[in-house]
Amino acid sequence: MTSNRFIRAIENQITDLDSKTLKRVLKTIQGPNDVILKIDGKDILSFCSNDYLGLSNHPDIKSAIKTGLDHFGIGSGASHLISGHSQAHVDLEKKLASFQAASIPQAKALFLSTGYMANLACITALCASHENTIIYSDELNHASLIDGIRLAGAQSHVEKHIYPHDDLVQLESLLSTKPVANNQNTLSLIVTDGVFSMDGDMADVKGLLHLAQKYDALLLIDDAHGFGVLGTKGYGILEENDISSDRIIYMGTLGKAAGISGAFIVAHESITEWIIQKARSYIYTTAAPPALSYGLLTSLNIIDAQDGAKRRVHLNHLITYFKKNITLKRWKVVSSNTPIQPIIIGSNEEALKITEELKKLGLYIPAIRPPTVPVNTARLRITFSAAHSIEQVQYLINSLHQIEAELESI
Ligand SMILES: Cc1ncc(COP(=O)(O)O)c(C=O)c1O
Repeated sequence: MTSNRFIRAIENQITDLDSKTLKRVLKTIQGPNDVILKIDGKDILSFCSNDYLGLSNHPDIKSAIKTGLDHFGIGSGASHLISGHSQAHVDLEKKLASFQAASIPQAKALFLSTGYMANLACITALCASHENTIIYSDELNHASLIDGIRLAGAQSHVEKHIYPHDDLVQLESLLSTKPVANNQNTLSLIVTDGVFSMDGDMADVKGLLHLAQKYDALLLIDDAHGFGVLGTKGYGILEENDISSDRIIYMGTLGKAAGISGAFIVAHESITEWIIQKARSYIYTTAAPPALSYGLLTSLNIIDAQDGAKRRVHLNHLITYFKKNITLKRWKVVSSNTPIQPIIIGSNEEALKITEELKKLGLYIPAIRPPTVPVNTARLRITFSAAHSIEQVQYLINSLHQIEAELESI
């Protein structure tokens, strides 16, 4: 035992987390990401990654990254504004902007290393553009949006309102009591996930845009889980809903359906220019390796091509099949039309137990517990990938039915 009192205090806190079934545990994956993972030397069928199109180990993308490495080397060497902004980043940004061109007039894209950083960048920069900001944020927004709002609030005058999940009536009543149209120094900003990461449901982006127009606000949509998946071409939630406005700031990530890592913001070119000027999480960090951006161009080409369309069709087939055939009594299947199909278990203990039982049957779905989700809503966040087969989904359904029947008989 250490005599360092700070370390002892931390150890006590970790023990406390453990006793409340809230301790998080890292699992090491011994090999590439795929639907079959190797963990502890054993193959296990995974239903928990965000690799929705099954691109994370795609041979064409791998070979593009190898070519990119030969051409651009390994590291970018500096932040974007010093000497890290490579031609590979520029080409990627052009392609990303072209995907949203029908939805955002004068669209320009900005590539960042992660979605977490992109959300911090967007929100802090936007809040720095006006003397006052009023933010309206959905209660189930992703942690990176929440942290962006917190950070922005620490830097400038930001008033925040959390509205009940997808409740546009409540949002409108908040917006209508804060008329900003006459105050040129106040920015109104509505912030939402496109597809909610832990529930899989989609925000009513049409309704949100209508409110943004009516009450003179900007609308930030985090489409981390929609980009590549939604819309006929896979361009995401704006394509899916056929909406267009220069009030929209679109954030997408590239570590999920695009299969690699990174993120981007697409907005009117003056907004992206402002983010370059002001966003500290963009300015003060090393640019991601150009070879990854080079590989991402191949990912985007796949998303845009017949191959991507076929993957989306198969993925939707898996989702429909699962929804049609899963019949649970003890736990609640959340209604969602996206690859995120959560099953709400309730207690942390039971969620952990099911994860263990699934593991015995060769299935890997970690339990998601508070604070990632609200208290008493611990869940299995099941996700599908175009790389799954119908047989694998059927095996998952059978296994869940079997575990439920066993627990019901105790
Ligand atoms: C809705 C949402 N936004 C942002 C992020 C962060 O993206 P990244 O993993 O690229 O940091 C995630 C998940 O990781 C997410 O689920």
